[in-house]
Amino acid sequence: MTGSAPRPLPVVGHLWPLMRRPIEFLESLSTYGDLVEIRLGPTPAYVPCHPTLIRQVLTNDRTFDKGGLLFERAGAVVGNGLGSCPHSHHRRQRRLIQPAFRHERIRHYAAVMEDEVDGLTHSWQDGQVIDTFPVLCDLGLRISTRTLFTGSTVSESEITNIRDSFEIALHRIVKTMFMPHGLQNLPTAANRRYKRALEYLHETVGRIISQYRESGVDHGDLMSMLISSTDEESGVGLDDSEIHDQVVSLLLAASETVPACLAWALHSLSLQPELMTRLQEEVDTVVQGRTAHWGDVEALPYTQRVITESLRRHPPGWLFTRVTTEGVELAGRHLKAGTTVIFSPPAVQSRADVFDRPREYDPDRWLRERTPSAPRGSFTSFGGGARKCIGDNFAMTEMVIALATMVRTWRFECLPRSDLRTASLATVNHPRRLLLRVAKRTPSLASSRP
Ligand code: HEM
Repeated sequence: MTGSAPRPLPVVGHLWPLMRRPIEFLESLSTYGDLVEIRLGPTPAYVPCHPTLIRQVLTNDRTFDKGGLLFERAGAVVGNGLGSCPHSHHRRQRRLIQPAFRHERIRHYAAVMEDEVDGLTHSWQDGQVIDTFPVLCDLGLRISTRTLFTGSTVSESEITNIRDSFEIALHRIVKTMFMPHGLQNLPTAANRRYKRALEYLHETVGRIISQYRESGVDHGDLMSMLISSTDEESGVGLDDSEIHDQVVSLLLAASETVPACLAWALHSLSLQPELMTRLQEEVDTVVQGRTAHWGDVEALPYTQRVITESLRRHPPGWLFTRVTTEGVELAGRHLKAGTTVIFSPPAVQSRADVFDRPREYDPDRWLRERTPSAPRGSFTSFGGGARKCIGDNFAMTEMVIALATMVRTWRFECLPRSDLRTASLATVNHPRRLLLRVAKRTPSLASSRP
């Protein structure tokens, strides 16, 4: 069944609800059909709201290629990196980058994750109030920069500058998606700030690549992997400009997604103390009073379910665009070449006929006996098909280690001054302002590891 979202405004279409209340708007669309037409200004775009249709889009990346408003705007920041390149470049790039995300590499990166989470949780004072999302963004960026460039001298001030530049660039990508072309290059203060942020990012990454090339040392980090990787088919590796685009893409893909998911998880747990108690019992049993590490991840199934449920209920990536490269049928509708299709996890993950009581935060819905046959395409927070997130295991490892280490010694109370609406005009779905008071707890050491 196809349908149209109601009440597009003249000129702007559905841009207003997409900018102001994006998640609520996208979650409401399945009421109008399985494939819903919305208007991005005057341009029609189609949102698949059924698992089968999302799967059809994600598994046919030749026809539903990267493109459309999001990736056109993101291109200025990430160039032709893995996440934004067209299908014709994708397979080669993916082959070259995949080795950096193998199981044994993630084990190596986990040591950085442990160290950084340990540092953060030790810096907290009993009773302190944290502005959660920015604090977790700092943590995420420190982990990303250290796993990418262990062998470089990236100073504390550079990490801060990279974070600020990303914030400006990311905000601008989303804002300009909804802005007429003509307004984007006016010499306004915001546009000048954006230009400076991009120059800073490009220069810093360029300098780091030169340092690596000159030293010729393999530091065992992501950058060393990118520099040394060679395509088995062609025998050719990535040149400096390709490495640059990959580094910026990876930093961008990781910088806010993991923090957003962790922030929503802490929020949900702070509201449901019985879930927090269960989580802490598991962590106390397995982690036993130390920092969680790589070897604990598989032994923390409840922690994993908490994260997965946060990804379902509050998917960090909320809108990705595609453009059809040829005429194609979708839900019985003919889409001609050049049509914009929007892939949006919230449009499916909030459907009551796909997930029982979808608005409830229920980590146990992911128990194998309760989800024996979740239809393919129903959970797409990491995407799907050939363009599925390359960092999914990296992210899960980071989130499990971080959450387990945080709840091991801290309780979290959500303060009423928090603003839990989804931030508007944000690249990821995160709470606008989540204020948590942290209170010290003593891990129970009575239980022993099973
Ligand atoms: C909770 C954390 C994360 C979430 C929810 C997430 C989500 C996603 C989604 C939905 C896509 C597909 C986008 C599309 O189809 O247009 C994607 C792609 C990608 N992600 Fe992630 N991501 C996360 C963390 C990471 C991390 C930590 C990294 C890297 C260290 C990363 C790197 C990438 C890259 C490079 C792609 C493009 C893959 C390709 O096109 O082959 N992501 N991610």
